[in-house]
Amino acid sequence: MASFTDEKDSLQPAVCMYGPANVRNLEPGKKMKWCTCGLSKTQPWCDGAHKGTGFKSLKWIVPSKPQSLYSICLCKHTKDPPFCDATHTNLPDTIEQLKKVCPIKDDHQTKCPKLCTKCGWVPDF
Ligand code: FES
Repeated sequence: MASFTDEKDSLQPAVCMYGPANVRNLEPGKKMKWCTCGLSKTQPWCDGAHKGTGFKSLKWIVPSKPQSLYSICLCKHTKDPPFCDATHTNLPDTIEQLKKVCPIKDDHQTKCPKLCTKCGWVPDF
């Protein structure tokens, strides 16, 4: 079974934002699904928008020890999901370069109705 990191290396998610969501008042023990594709409209959590992209949500259980604030990744490139690990800091140039060299960039509109998993391009965002 592929790990989150393996999947991330082979599929490029959409970057929602180059920074985290600061989430409060999560119930300890509650099961959450972190959006890995970047397409969910209920960020940072999954709304099922990944269907057909090859991504799947990441299950995470809110720790039993109470914490008032969680910094949850929105760039979808963290190495410590679902938490922000500051990977977003140097990400914009990398993402722009990926989009420039994408092998199907001229066909995005027709081949990628939701997301180009080779470069993270999305039709509207
Ligand atoms: S938002 Fe900070 S690592 Fe993704």
